[in-house]
Amino acid sequence: MEPTTVAPETEAVPLTEVVTTTAAPVPTGLSEFDRAMGGGFVPGSVTLLGGEPGIGKSTLTLQVAAGMARREGRVLLVGAEESAAQVRLRAERLGALVDGVWLAGDADLDTVVAHLDRVGPDLLVVDSIQTVHDPAVTGVPGSTAQVRACAHRLVGEARRRGTTTVLVGHVTKDGSLAGPKVLEHVVDTVVELTGDRHHALRLLRVAKHRFGPTDELGLFEMVADGMRPVEDPGRLFLADRAPDVAGSAVLPAMEGHRPLVVELQSLVVRATTHHPRRSSQGVDPRRLALLLAVLERRVGLELGALDVYVTAVGGVQITEPGADLPLALAVTSALTGRRLGSETVACGEVGLGGEVRQVAHLERRLQEARRLGFTRAVLPESGPEGPPGMEVIRVRTLAEAVEATGLLGTPERAA
Ligand SMILES: Nc1ncnc2c1ncn2[C@@H]1O[C@H](COP(=O)(O)OP(=O)(O)O)[C@@H](O)[C@H]1O
Ligand SMILES: [Mg+2]
Repeated sequence: MEPTTVAPETEAVPLTEVVTTTAAPVPTGLSEFDRAMGGGFVPGSVTLLGGEPGIGKSTLTLQVAAGMARREGRVLLVGAEESAAQVRLRAERLGALVDGVWLAGDADLDTVVAHLDRVGPDLLVVDSIQTVHDPAVTGVPGSTAQVRACAHRLVGEARRRGTTTVLVGHVTKDGSLAGPKVLEHVVDTVVELTGDRHHALRLLRVAKHRFGPTDELGLFEMVADGMRPVEDPGRLFLADRAPDVAGSAVLPAMEGHRPLVVELQSLVVRATTHHPRRSSQGVDPRRLALLLAVLERRVGLELGALDVYVTAVGGVQITEPGADLPLALAVTSALTGRRLGSETVACGEVGLGGEVRQVAHLERRLQEARRLGFTRAVLPESGPEGPPGMEVIRVRTLAEAVEATGLLGTPERAA
């Protein structure tokens, strides 16, 4: 039989003739949001905003909506999560009560599309994707089938109309991402709002971006009148720092392309049970366990009968390997009662052999630390020269770092 050939519905195009220009991003006026997004919303793009319940997604989107409306954009807010009166009260509190923002409380996707026809918004916000449902699909709102169907339809509408769209998705802490996770590939941009609910700090991370850089970070403080952009995080994590307490070390961290100087603290006490506690906040407990093993085996510290507590101050979550060295030094300092000195930062990955390894962007980190007044840095041997005014101590191993910083020996009285 002859093979059948099917005429394609669209023509393939030579790669060399593909047009690469996308529309320029439109700023929302909320500086840290625009920074994270690479300038603002690319018109017609679809963004998924994920985050835990209560973290501030509705607050952020309302501020962004008001920002767009102030710049002559029409905005449609769709959501069955809160009543119109609640949204209005929030808008009043945030100073976001502006003309050009429309509300629809419907959960039915056909109705949402009808609202799109009538309002003709430049920006559509669906808060949240888990509360809308498509009557043509079985399943309760929030089920994977519903979330997927609704997102596909809304993405289709966004593309057809050129309407910039934000889908808000709840994500739970235990990683049950059933809703938003299935959407990541259908949207253009994925941003996550994170933070510790007991602290004011909120981080907006861009995990995927079809039209701009990923790894960008926006920083906010959650205050009564909304998300306040933090343009210079400089001393944010160092405020209220007790000078010269044992058990403290400072990490010049990098979050995406942004340096954040963060204090790490440790406290070591005699264990009261046969199972010593290892407690960590803002630090991966597995990383802590590994560092304690390295400290035992490669530095010779005895930690087996001690409870060890570590914290990244300020409600920030530190996941980068560069935190190993300051964390190990903080624990050592807590154990021996000798202080690292409040002018010192440390950065480096620690291997199982006790070796201290290179991490990325050390120059940028040191510049920021110097700007904030730090004058001494403990770094891997291959580390760069410090900026003027900064003494650099290069170490090959954790044992060398402990030695060079004078953490071993008799405890100081004031510690
Ligand atoms: N009246 C208020 N004054 C100050 N902060 C408030 C007020 N109401 C709510 N908040 C803050 O807003 C948070 C809820 O933010 P929201 O944007 O609704 O989160 P999400 O949409 O992610 O669930 C609360 O956790 C609280 O910190
Ligand atoms: Mg909400």
